[in-house]
Amino acid sequence: MDTGERPGRQQTPARSALVRELSHRVPGLDPTVLDAFSRVDRADFVPPGFDPYDVSAPVPLAEVDGRAVSTISAPDMVALMLQQAEILPGDRVLEVGAGSGYSAALMAAHGARVTSIEIIAELVESARATLRACGSPARVMVGDGMAGRPEDAPYDRVVFTCAAHRLPPWVWTQTTDRARVVIPLRRDSTYCLALVRDADVFTCVDAIPCGFVPLIGDVEDASGPDAAWSPWPPRTLSRHPST
Ligand SMILES: C[S@@+](CC[C@H](N)C(=O)[O-])C[C@H]1O[C@@H](n2cnc3c(N)ncnc32)[C@H](O)[C@@H]1O
Repeated sequence: MDTGERPGRQQTPARSALVRELSHRVPGLDPTVLDAFSRVDRADFVPPGFDPYDVSAPVPLAEVDGRAVSTISAPDMVALMLQQAEILPGDRVLEVGAGSGYSAALMAAHGARVTSIEIIAELVESARATLRACGSPARVMVGDGMAGRPEDAPYDRVVFTCAAHRLPPWVWTQTTDRARVVIPLRRDSTYCLALVRDADVFTCVDAIPCGFVPLIGDVEDASGPDAAWSPWPPRTLSRHPST
């Protein structure tokens, strides 16, 4: 099985230190998550001038009018999301928001079949080049997270790395009946939710306060069926909220 590991790649002291720091900061991290961090080097994805091994620092990738529209999330946040996703070897994974390709490479290092979509075409080109250079099998495609990617569905896991006001409706049609979805969901505050599907209901099994760049194209709909979610964060999300 191709795990995304670069042949002959040596573990560096800085990468080992990052893994140690992660295991202290995030107690109970699954060994498979730590193993992925030890095999994928964040330095390959971070632009020059930034410390790739700072465990809690996001790195800007793209800005519009002085506001970040893309960042490489901090390693501690990425680790928490991977923990929430519980990725298994062979899982079919869709990531929404490829950015640099770093989290896609980490997911592929779990032995998953990863497709990552990204709305900014220039980022797709550089993420592909970096993943190729690293020997990662993760695929990056230009795509819109408001539409998903039906070509490779159904997915066992969907991981959003940008924040939405609601679960985009395609998630119901492009995931398996027992899928797990990780999504930063916004109201006054943003929580990264781990959602486990059982047919027509997603149950929230974990919620972490967080901050993420917005999902482009997502608009708040104050009259929508899930606008009055209470409690916040929500405990369940239903396919047919009015029934
Ligand atoms: C936090 S960054 C992703 C970081 C990335 N996972 C990494 O490891 O570098 C979020 C990304 O979501 C992308 N994005 C925002 N809205 C999107 C949409 N509608 N469809 C696809 N990608 C989107 C942004 O362009 C940005 O690159």
